[in-house]
Amino acid sequence: MPVTEPLVEVEDLSVTFVSRESEVRAVNGVNFTMMPGEVMCMLGESGSGKSVTMRALMRLFPPKRSVISGRVRVAGQDVLSLSDSALRRLRGATVSMIFQEPMTAFDPVVRVGDQIAEVVALHRGVSHREGRKRALDLFDLVRIPSAARRLDAYPHELSGGLRQRAMIALALSCDPKLLLADEPTTALDATVQIQVLILLRRLQKELGMSVIFVTHDLGVAAEIADRVAVMYAGRVVETGPVRDLMRNPLHPYTAGLLASTVHDQPRDRELETIPGAPPDMRNLPPGCSFAPRCSLSAADCTAGTPPAIVPVPGRLARCIRVPGQIAEYA
Ligand SMILES: Nc1ncnc2c1ncn2[C@@H]1O[C@H](COP(=O)(O)OP(=O)(O)OP(=O)(O)O)[C@@H](O)[C@H]1O
Ligand SMILES: [Mg+2]
Repeated sequence: MPVTEPLVEVEDLSVTFVSRESEVRAVNGVNFTMMPGEVMCMLGESGSGKSVTMRALMRLFPPKRSVISGRVRVAGQDVLSLSDSALRRLRGATVSMIFQEPMTAFDPVVRVGDQIAEVVALHRGVSHREGRKRALDLFDLVRIPSAARRLDAYPHELSGGLRQRAMIALALSCDPKLLLADEPTTALDATVQIQVLILLRRLQKELGMSVIFVTHDLGVAAEIADRVAVMYAGRVVETGPVRDLMRNPLHPYTAGLLASTVHDQPRDRELETIPGAPPDMRNLPPGCSFAPRCSLSAADCTAGTPPAIVPVPGRLARCIRVPGQIAEYA
C-alpha cells in the first residue's frame, strides 16, 4: 500500500518582525504536520502567533521587515524557497486563505462575480466568460441564494454572512488542497457563525480538502476539528486529537483554556480565567513562556525551552511537568 505523504510539514518555523526600535518574535520554533484531508484547529489567545503562522504557509510577508527561518513544505513544495512565479501558482491553486473580514479580500469597486471570474481566468488560462460560469457554480456550492443575481453585486451590497460565503467561493475557486480559515466567523453574529461553520464542514468533506481553522473558541474546535494545535507566545505548546485533548489536556495552558470556556461545562461549575497576561513578544521570558502564569511552575521551568514530550503516540506537549500529569490522570 502506498504510504500517504503529509500535506503540510512545518519544522522549526520562526518569524521575527524587525523595526528600528524592536524585534517582535512572533513565531518561535513552530512544528506541526498535517495529513491530506485533515482538519486542524489552531487555538490560542490574541497575539500568540496564529495568523503569522498561517501567513507563513503562503509566505505572505513584507520581506524587508520580516526574518523567516525553518522549513515549510506544502504539497511537496518548499514554500520558503520558491521562486515568485511558483509562489503565485501555489497561492490559490494549492493553498488558499479566508479571512475574518471579507472586505479585505475583495476590491470594493468591482462586482464580486467578476472578481472571482478574474482569478479563475488568470489561474486556469480560461476566458472571462468561463470564469463567470465557474463563479456561478461556486456561488451555488456555497449556497448563496439567487446566485446569478448576486454575482453582479458589489461587495458592500452583500450582507456579512453572504460576503463571507462569497469569500469562501473566491478561496475555493482554484480547488485548493489546503484552506486556511483565519477566524472566518468572528465578525458574524452567532446564528450566521453556525451556518458558516456548517458550510465549511460540508465543503471540507465534499471536496476532501485539508483545513486549518484558527479560532479562540474551543467549542468551535470541538465541532469542526480532527486535531488541535494550541499556541502560546509563538510556540505550539500542545497538539492532539480534539477529543483526547479536551478530555485530558496535558499542558497547563490548555487546561486553563478549557476551564475558561463555556462549552460542555456543567452549569453550576464556575468559569475560571487564566491569571496574568501573555508575555511581551519583544521581550520573551526565559524558558517556558507560560511559566509566569502557571500554577505548576518551579525553578526548572525557566531553565530552558521545554522539550516536546510525546507521552502517547499522536499527542505532544511542551511542558516538563507533563509526565507527572499523566500519572495524575492515569
Ligand atoms: N507585520 C507585523 N509587524 C510587526 N509585528 C507583527 C506583524 N504582524 C504581527 N505582528 C505581531 O506578531 C505577534 C503575533 O501576531 P498574530 O497576528 O499572529 O497573532 P494572533 O494569534 O493571530 O492573534 P489574534 O487572535 O488577535 O488574531 C503579535 O505580537 C503581533 O503584534
Ligand atoms: Mg490573528
